[in-house]
Amino acid sequence: MINDFVFENTTKVYFGKNQLENLPNELKKYGTKVMLNYGGGSIKKIGLFDKITNILKSSGIEVFEFGGIEPNPKHTTVNKGVQFARENNIEVLLAVGGGSTIDATKAMAAGYYYNGDVWDLVCGKEKVTNALPIFTVLTLAATGSEMDCGGVISNMETNEKLGLVHPLLQPKISFLNPENTFTVSKYQTAAGSADIIAHILDICYFVKSPKMDMLDMVMESVLKTVVKYAPVAIKEPDNYNARANLMWAASWALNGFLIAGRAQAPTNHMIEHELSAYYDITHGHGLAILMPRWLEYILDDTTEGDIKKFGVNVFGLDKNSSAKDAIEAFKKFLFEDLGLKPTLTDLNIDKTHFKEMSRHCCFGEIMHGYKDLTPDDIEKILEMCL
Ligand code: NZQ
Ligand code: ZN
Repeated sequence: MINDFVFENTTKVYFGKNQLENLPNELKKYGTKVMLNYGGGSIKKIGLFDKITNILKSSGIEVFEFGGIEPNPKHTTVNKGVQFARENNIEVLLAVGGGSTIDATKAMAAGYYYNGDVWDLVCGKEKVTNALPIFTVLTLAATGSEMDCGGVISNMETNEKLGLVHPLLQPKISFLNPENTFTVSKYQTAAGSADIIAHILDICYFVKSPKMDMLDMVMESVLKTVVKYAPVAIKEPDNYNARANLMWAASWALNGFLIAGRAQAPTNHMIEHELSAYYDITHGHGLAILMPRWLEYILDDTTEGDIKKFGVNVFGLDKNSSAKDAIEAFKKFLFEDLGLKPTLTDLNIDKTHFKEMSRHCCFGEIMHGYKDLTPDDIEKILEMCL
């Protein structure tokens, strides 16, 4: 029996080239004092910062600039953002960037109403009670943060990277212009594409719970879209059609539609967040290294059929091909077509922290995913990635 589920996604999306003119009127429904959050400055280089601030200022909106949000955003940066928002009586938060900028903005939105370190909310010690309204202008197709209610924050003092999830953190409106992703590097395009694939495989494609055929077919279409267009975007960064396909695939991979009652630990994500928490690596790259090794490790009579189907339906392999062929096709895509380095050793990671990471990511017990894994299993998977 398919599990019961509720589906609701309240984010309004303006998709395409000429949508930004709608931003001021939409923002004004929530306030006129807007905090514009961004990362290391790519939005200034591509002219997006000037474009947005000009549109807002000419509409009578006051813009307060908060830059410097780092990839794998840190709780200390979020705390600074909360303070800045309070000092300026901010009414709306506008995140312009990739998943890191959007996630940090979500944590600031909740932190604004919490008197203390935002880490208390992230680690679950305290509950989210309210949040400032959140708008996004997406510049990197990957995380789905533009259309979901979660954010991932790192605490480098405790080596923890955890998700903060709450319905109040769902963006009100997201602006998705594929042109804003033309300048994403080959490396970040590849890593982002691996992340889109991971959201589907980890959360809803390889699952124990009963499946809905309709969704399996949609998932395979989204996966095939990434397999087709990520290499095009890498070769031709300003190919609008390729960037548009990746952008919409990213949003729909994690906006709740595909999950439909399937509930399990997202194994690769939980392990990857450990790697990021210790080594600050690029999320999608860590996932790309982990996923095929995880599939190799869990390959047995119970998983063989699903993995083989992945090869046939996503990579177009012959019906007589094996699950091993599927994993090889996946590796070829990740490490040759996308050009991502294939091992943790390539990222200067050795096994020093594997034991503690393996225990921490399943809280010392069993990780209940597609295949249940013990800390020892996880350690072995990490060793296969070296
Ligand atoms: O810092 P800026 O200047 O923005 O540069 C970024 C950064 O260096 C750059 N970039 C972004 N857009 C660009 C661009 N460079 C040139 N042109 C553009 N248009 O790319 C680099 C990476 O940006 P980042 O935002 O870190 O990447 P991504 O979107 O992949 O986000 C990764 C973060 O999201 C979390 C990850 O764990 C990681 O912390 N995730 C969030 C999820 C969610 N909210 O639902 C789910 C995911 O599974 C994931 O965990
Ligand atoms: Zn992810």
